[in-house]
Amino acid sequence: MPTTTDGAAAAASALGDTPYLQLIGGQWRPAASGASFAIDNPATGAQIAEVPDGGGEDARAAIDAAAAALPAWSATPAPQRAAILRRVAALMLERQERLATIMTLEQGKPLAEARGEIAYAASFLTWFAGEAERIYGQTIPAGAAGKRLLVLRQPVGVVALITPWNFPSAMLTRKLGPALAAGCTAICKPAEQTPLSALELGRLFAEAGTPPGVVNILTCQDPIPFSDTIFADQRVRKVSFTGSTEVGKVLIRSSAATVKRISLELGGNAPFIVFDDADLDAAVAGAITSKFRNAGQTCVCANRIFVQRGVYDRFAERFTAQVRGLRVGNGLESGVSVGPLIDGAAMEKVRRHVSEAAAGGAKVLAGGDPSPLGGRFWVPTVLTDVDSGMLVAREETFGPVAPLIPFDSEEDALRMANDTSYGLAAYFFTRDVGRVFRVAEGLEYGIIGANDGLPSTAQAPFGGVKQSGLGREGGPQGIDEYLEVKYISLGL
Ligand code: SIN
Repeated sequence: MPTTTDGAAAAASALGDTPYLQLIGGQWRPAASGASFAIDNPATGAQIAEVPDGGGEDARAAIDAAAAALPAWSATPAPQRAAILRRVAALMLERQERLATIMTLEQGKPLAEARGEIAYAASFLTWFAGEAERIYGQTIPAGAAGKRLLVLRQPVGVVALITPWNFPSAMLTRKLGPALAAGCTAICKPAEQTPLSALELGRLFAEAGTPPGVVNILTCQDPIPFSDTIFADQRVRKVSFTGSTEVGKVLIRSSAATVKRISLELGGNAPFIVFDDADLDAAVAGAITSKFRNAGQTCVCANRIFVQRGVYDRFAERFTAQVRGLRVGNGLESGVSVGPLIDGAAMEKVRRHVSEAAAGGAKVLAGGDPSPLGGRFWVPTVLTDVDSGMLVAREETFGPVAPLIPFDSEEDALRMANDTSYGLAAYFFTRDVGRVFRVAEGLEYGIIGANDGLPSTAQAPFGGVKQSGLGREGGPQGIDEYLEVKYISLGL
């Protein structure tokens, strides 16, 4: 029998009684306006905390603090910057259980996934601590005698990091790790639904001895005054954003005013292709992980599952059997593998996608409805006879819904997979090594999982092409986003 952790007791013991405040210039501060807003638990709808509702004045104070801290931090030797990142990573792992509980309380994901995310988040700090020590320059053979040509890589400056609610810790460290490693100072703005994980991280950065002003964390319900202030200020040299393509386009326009560098990790519409020659059990396992991690609320999750006709029925049967076995519920309960959706709007989108598909002739092999648990829980759903024109295949559902679409040939699979304006992640399963290269090279995506449903890792570049974004996070490429190249021509 699954054991149930009492949500209220878990909340009280994990959250403690220290009020959540903004971190600005090394001080914990309420909003300049004195306003605050409530954070709720998506599994119960109950309020779990309150955070300051910061605005333009708070953002200006954070920019002042980050700009004041920049000269000393960028001049701090790389091994010392790296040591702080390693210390924070160690603290995260030491406090993993408490941080994971807080994440489940504010975000909803099952506790086992939240523990995994804390470890994943810490791994970005460790990886970029290593990269801090490898910010190499170049010497270039000069075209004229008596000259030496040198290339330095220097921190971009003050950066603003805007993070989403689906991975409240990992998306922050994936930006903050390289920013601090490079010698930048940062102003972080977590999503309004999930600011607690970011503020907890802020406490660890303070405990690890990060100088005041190097990491600033602002919370706000309305992001507009924050972003207006950030984008108007010449001292902020770069903005990194993870979120929707719609907002990303607005930020590209805003970045023009002061010509800021911008990195965007935006929406996806990931194809997951199963060829006739695939290891079917591995493909089913990969599809379950890719589709149902975080209740389908990941930018890289399989959105369209294309299955070659020769294995379509067998795949559908095995996949559906596993989907029916997924337990939906409060992420604090043991045995739960699919938590709630983040809010009512997310539930509404899932409902719209499923009902449009069903009305258009799709068959519902599993789920198809909200859970009898009520609230924001949706039963994991499998749809067959899905047509590529349906909403569920054209738009990112961001929920636990798996549409299965048949295809005939490798060419058809590639054409259908690439028929989208998105290009973040794509997956395929095959045992033909020639096909691995043909398909991986033919897919117009930034991340490819070839016989792998979970390619995300700190050591590799994460990011998309087309309308899925600009730039890369993670991997050796991740730190380049926070470095400027300076060329020195030295006359002897
Ligand atoms: C995302 O959904 O944007 C991130 C998921 C991951 O890092 O795997």
